[in-house]
Amino acid sequence: MNQDQLKLAVAQAALRHVPDGRIIGVGTGSTVDFFIDALATIRHRVRATVSSSQRSTERLRAHGFEVLDLNAVDNVPVYVDGADEIDPGGSMIKGGGGALTREKIIAEVAERFICIVDASKLVPRLGRFPLPVEVVPMARELVRRRLVALGGAPRLRDGFVTDNGNQILDVHGLSIDDPRALETQINQIPGVVTVGLFAHRGADLALVGSAEGIDARSFG
Ligand code: 5RP
Repeated sequence: MNQDQLKLAVAQAALRHVPDGRIIGVGTGSTVDFFIDALATIRHRVRATVSSSQRSTERLRAHGFEVLDLNAVDNVPVYVDGADEIDPGGSMIKGGGGALTREKIIAEVAERFICIVDASKLVPRLGRFPLPVEVVPMARELVRRRLVALGGAPRLRDGFVTDNGNQILDVHGLSIDDPRALETQINQIPGVVTVGLFAHRGADLALVGSAEGIDARSFG
């Protein structure tokens, strides 16, 4: 199976975790694109959606889903999203697609975070994938210096502007021993909008696709 076939398989497997008649939180990325297409096959069972990016909103609307403002929603029973890396405790690096801020907001509201990945995203320790940090543009150099002091090598994601009008620094060279502590530490830097460490609110369930099939891993 190639990587796209694995993404399709985990996307389809996630449908089993979609409750009837409820609002579904939808993440961003190529794996989630497969999930949105799969969700369209059971559209009659989905009341509405909330979306973590313009990209996913457009795809959802093209399939005829209603996309609600999160402020109009009390409860999101399930949020389905991909990840760039996931560790054995369910902590993740996210934001490769640049949607980390809205992803983190919906993840916080959601009762259950279901992470859909192929097995290449499983790592014993986070940090091989450059850690995305969304920054207010005027704070970019301040944040860059602070990230260097933490041992990282930040690089501006050139020509990229987030859905929130901000920039992204991709931090290379971090070996993340304590994801929660680092998430807290980076959140303290003025001008940081969101760090792509999802450790305080990690995944509740990961569906991991490999040549052997789908492995479901529960956390916490
Ligand atoms: C977007 C994300 C994605 O979940 C992450 O980048 C994984 O994407 P893909 O499914 O394309 O590998 O965090 O901001």
